[in-house]
Amino acid sequence: MRSRPVANCRRDPTWSLDQAVDLNLSGREHHRIYVHDRYAPGVTVLEIIQRSAQFLAKRGVDSPRLQIELLLAHVLQMPRLKLYLNFDRRLTANEVEQVRKLVKRRGQREPLQHILGSTSFCGLEIAVNPNVLIPRPETELLAERAWPFLNSRAAGGAPSGLDFGTGSGCLAIALAMKCPAAKIYALDVSPAALAVARENAERHSVAERIQFFEGDGFSVLPANSRFDLIAANPPYIPSAAIGTLQPEVRDYDPRVALDGGEDGLDFFRRLAAEAAAHLNRGGRLMLEFGDDQGGALRELFAEHNWIVESIESDYTARARILIATAPSP
Ligand SMILES: C[S@@+](CC[C@H](N)C(=O)[O-])C[C@H]1O[C@@H](n2cnc3c(N)ncnc32)[C@H](O)[C@@H]1O
Repeated sequence: MRSRPVANCRRDPTWSLDQAVDLNLSGREHHRIYVHDRYAPGVTVLEIIQRSAQFLAKRGVDSPRLQIELLLAHVLQMPRLKLYLNFDRRLTANEVEQVRKLVKRRGQREPLQHILGSTSFCGLEIAVNPNVLIPRPETELLAERAWPFLNSRAAGGAPSGLDFGTGSGCLAIALAMKCPAAKIYALDVSPAALAVARENAERHSVAERIQFFEGDGFSVLPANSRFDLIAANPPYIPSAAIGTLQPEVRDYDPRVALDGGEDGLDFFRRLAAEAAAHLNRGGRLMLEFGDDQGGALRELFAEHNWIVESIESDYTARARILIATAPSP
């Protein structure tokens, strides 16, 4: 790409960050003079936080200060809060270069979790990449409802739980870790997602306790498979709404993990119709859904004679989790 004249660069407060990377890639070192005042080696921790936060805010990134602090902590390999004890520390040229690249990526709305390579789920570090949905806090709520139920079924032998649409494996792994007696099954249509899930299971030493299946829904399971628990965070975004989501989701989460069909309810229809045949007597179905789908789900599951035990709300008081018992055979 061609560089802009110095005068223009200096008028554009974001130029010194994002254009500099392109110029560096072109190998034309003399252009770095343009960025001297903003991202020069020797800039302090506090200065780089303030300047980057300003840049990220202009790019529409939420919580820009927190984001740069997390990126900087990653580069400097120190806990985020330790940055506060190091505000006057000067960054080396190499550190500045690393931060600049990461901030540029975040400014292009690449999710922080992809840049860092992992996220936290129920206190577990879960590796993520563009082949899997980034685990969300509301899914932690689903996990927290699921594992006590699974543990409550341990008296009759090893309880079994199925994670339908496992993605990164976060739910299956949390269940395996919190229910040491349980046997966990996880399925996904995406082989690339399953590769991530398997790696995560190995990282947490539960790979031998989770059996993975690749393919479309229940059809990939051995005939007559039954579980004490089926938990799912299925794709539930209406197809036409995907384009309106924030760029971090729209452009970086896999579409197969988001798209719930025309009204977002396709997977819930399948689960309402098919899941009962895969539950043991007294078993539960636990589902995460979109915050405007609770009413439709209640009706849908009632139509299929499920007993809706409860609909639970997330930390912002929005209904997000359906817990149901199968209709009597
Ligand atoms: C919303 S993501 C949930 C991922 C993970 N359980 C979580 O909560 O972070 C939905 C997952 O369902 C998978 N999926 C989509 N269609 C499927 C199908 N027909 N059969 C099985 N899995 C499917 C996607 O690949 C994706 O990993």
